Amino acid sequence: MEEAGAGAVVLHSLFEEQILLESQSLDRFLNAGSESYPESTSYFPDLAAYDIGPRAYLQHIRAAKRALKIPVIASLNGATLGGWVRYAREMEEAGADAVELNIYFLPASFEVSGAQIEEDYRELVEAVKAHVRIPVAVKLGPFFTSLPHLAYRLECAGAAALVLFNRFYQPDFDLETLEATPNLRLSSSDELRLRLHAVALLSARLNLDLAITGGVHTAEDALKGILAGAHVVMMTSALLGRGIGHFRVVESGMIRWMEEHDYTSVREMRGAMNAAAVAEPEVFQRANYLKTLGSYVSRLQAR
Ligand SMILES: Cc1cc2nc3c(=O)[nH]c(=O)nc-3n(C[C@H](O)[C@H](O)[C@H](O)COP(=O)(O)O)c2cc1C
Repeated sequence: MEEAGAGAVVLHSLFEEQILLESQSLDRFLNAGSESYPESTSYFPDLAAYDIGPRAYLQHIRAAKRALKIPVIASLNGATLGGWVRYAREMEEAGADAVELNIYFLPASFEVSGAQIEEDYRELVEAVKAHVRIPVAVKLGPFFTSLPHLAYRLECAGAAALVLFNRFYQPDFDLETLEATPNLRLSSSDELRLRLHAVALLSARLNLDLAITGGVHTAEDALKGILAGAHVVMMTSALLGRGIGHFRVVESGMIRWMEEHDYTSVREMRGAMNAAAVAEPEVFQRANYLKTLGSYVSRLQAR
């Protein structure tokens, strides 16, 4: 990826469940919480098969650091506050240039409020920041009532960057087995617009770095992300689908467009289309909503 032009690499996440497994305590952990729900032990895949427990992960960071000049960012998906803090530190010690907190949490409780969950996110960032010196990025899902407010609080808690957005892998129903089935499809450029909207809004006011993950496949997608205000655009599905060499295609497409449009640097175009120029974003968005509905022309009318 470095040879193909990547600016940095984010490693896959280390999951705290893998850590517990490696320390032989996963059984205890699961059984402790599952006395009344014995089937919960079967929720987890056979993690042993992955062989990506913490020791291997930390070694992977060291090896990547030895081999690369570009920054290596570790990713952590913790389950307990202590786990998040401890492994973020270990990642730093192993040489990671930054750590990404991959928070994949889908609330299921009817008692815990959104405000409480956002406070938990803030506390997590604050706790990790208190124990590491490297930059801490936070990868979030898209479903918050007030993303700008949460983003601002995370910035105040010390987050150096937000990575937007985690995808919610919506499981499907199998009508024959009557089971929920995992559903991982690679993305398409259609997923980008949700990110563009958020980044255009947040980049107008926040000082932290913003990265877009989700739906970046082409040079046009990458350019749109930067015009919205992203400091970084990330690619996973595009590389899995088209191979690592696709970096070059995206990079050369971006350079061509920038030359044609008289931009001499990424910095110059970053945020050129963000919400800074919009006096009242809420009114603007409402007007756009009406415009969008009004723009629909039925196929019958179009004839
Ligand atoms: C096979 C696969 C494995 C992934 N593993 C992780 C992971 O370990 N940690 C993480 O934060 N995101 C993971 N992701 C999500 C990607 O990092 C990315 O956020 C998502 O695929 C959206 O970006 P894209 O449209 O470029 O694919 C994974 C995605 C795929 C397809």
